[in-house]
Amino acid sequence: MVVENMGLDHVAIKVRDIEQTIEFYTDVMNMEVSDRIGDSVAFLRTPAVSEDADHHEMNITQYSDEELEALEQRGELELDLHEFNEELPENGPPMLPTTGPIYHIAFEVPDYDGIKRAADGLEERGHPIYRGPGRHGPGNNIFLYFPDPDGYPIELTAKMEEAPEDGGRPAQQWPQTPETWNVWHNAEQL
Ligand SMILES: [Fe+2]
Repeated sequence: MVVENMGLDHVAIKVRDIEQTIEFYTDVMNMEVSDRIGDSVAFLRTPAVSEDADHHEMNITQYSDEELEALEQRGELELDLHEFNEELPENGPPMLPTTGPIYHIAFEVPDYDGIKRAADGLEERGHPIYRGPGRHGPGNNIFLYFPDPDGYPIELTAKMEEAPEDGGRPAQQWPQTPETWNVWHNAEQL
């Protein structure tokens, strides 16, 4: 063992238009800008779910001009998030369309009500929703998936099963079926 104890702290993503991304994460996701570096980097913090809020959970960095040019040459500069949505199969695992190797970034909300309000708000804005609300088998958490302006899928999640070091259940092997990804109908309580 090299690292003895740790938790996930923050995620850093590159984006096409930092101002557009800041607007999305502050306006839609209710995050706040903690600091900025020049005009190409921003640090964002989530609304405090606990009392000990940290300086940032996200670092947003604008692609360099060279990187933007490369994206343009590959025809990937302009994104149509709705078009992505239409390509989704109706059933099965989340199958989130992505613009890169990051499959999704998950944020925790306190309860099902938070998920429901977000789904309603996104619907009102005409913002695409990829999946959900539903409930995953592994983790038993409620989920909602939608894209940020760069197509990075965002997951809102609530009520994840607790896995204490002492007294937790052993790891389980789940079948690769749509029901494993969404066991909503089996949910005992929200
Ligand atoms: Fe997830």
